[in-house]
Amino acid sequence: MSTMNFDAIPRWRLPGLLRAMPKAELHIHIEGSLEPELIFRLAQRNGVTLPYASVEALRAAYAFTDLQSFLDIYYAGASVLLKEEDFFDMAWAYLERAAADNVIHTEIFFDPQTHTVRGVPFETVIKGLDHACHRAHQEMRISAKLILCFLRHLSEDEAMATLEEALPYKHHFIGVGLDSSERGHPPEKFARVFARAREAGLHLVAHAGEEGPPAYIRSALDVLHVERIDHGVRCVEDPALVQRLAAEGMALTVCPLSNVKLCVFETMADHNLPALLAAGLKATINSDDPAYFGGYMNQNFMETFAALPQLGAREAYTLARNSFEASFADAGAKSHWINQLDLAFEEAASPQ
Ligand code: ADE
Ligand code: ZN
Repeated sequence: MSTMNFDAIPRWRLPGLLRAMPKAELHIHIEGSLEPELIFRLAQRNGVTLPYASVEALRAAYAFTDLQSFLDIYYAGASVLLKEEDFFDMAWAYLERAAADNVIHTEIFFDPQTHTVRGVPFETVIKGLDHACHRAHQEMRISAKLILCFLRHLSEDEAMATLEEALPYKHHFIGVGLDSSERGHPPEKFARVFARAREAGLHLVAHAGEEGPPAYIRSALDVLHVERIDHGVRCVEDPALVQRLAAEGMALTVCPLSNVKLCVFETMADHNLPALLAAGLKATINSDDPAYFGGYMNQNFMETFAALPQLGAREAYTLARNSFEASFADAGAKSHWINQLDLAFEEAASPQ
């Protein structure tokens, strides 16, 4: 990395490089990859009536003012998922899009409680998703793992019941996370359930500092013992916390298009990703809920780099490398992927 000559990569080559470079995605809610067309197709297949007349009417409702205004529509969209093949179809469509963006490893969030409350068995959810992950690995050579998220607007007892129901299927997922409405639901509400997941040998992550204060990032670290922070962009309000995150090499899974759509930042030009990188934080770029926020991985990279001139080839390399280093893959896979990344950059730096 130290020998990489980033200055030899001309600016005009950056868009092609952003698209072509191998990358990992570490923050994607599979229910947030449901495109309106697939929502309507599944609604028809399952005889579900939607509160929207057409694909266009549904898409027109995607004008969010904050996280909650998005979540209300996101949970309505997920109501069409009933059978194992529905979960397969949803994950397969995402994995095809991810592979097309040169995502070679992805760690996918799923929200079992969104489905089990509607009477869909946990087994139906996990089997459909797991089948898609395995088949995508065989047919598209993309590595895909699952992370079970607890809905933080529900109680810790409900999260614990979900974890107990999931543990017999532990070989199908690699970790647990925490998502949904952040404000008023601090990480410490889930201390016992994260302790239990930790005991079971699962990886731990949590959304913190998206809309919630830096104190939520601290409690995700100190009470839940998470290994990555999802979003985390509000850490900059607490300089001592920024220092700590940098010193610990704690990864932040940043989602630029999501942040703009949910009004965390007014425009992409206001995003603090350059400041996070300049502070030495292990930031990554991710799509969060690509069907709702205007794009998948490469769209996130393209729009972020187009709006922020401080970001160049060096930052592109750092972001992609961080995505592999912060993943939960084994050391051998990580170094293999980083070698592939190095090759893509060496080629871009070589004269035509
Ligand atoms: N669930 C899906 N997307 C989310 C986000 N950005 N924050 C919290 N919960 C979510
Ligand atoms: Zn998220």
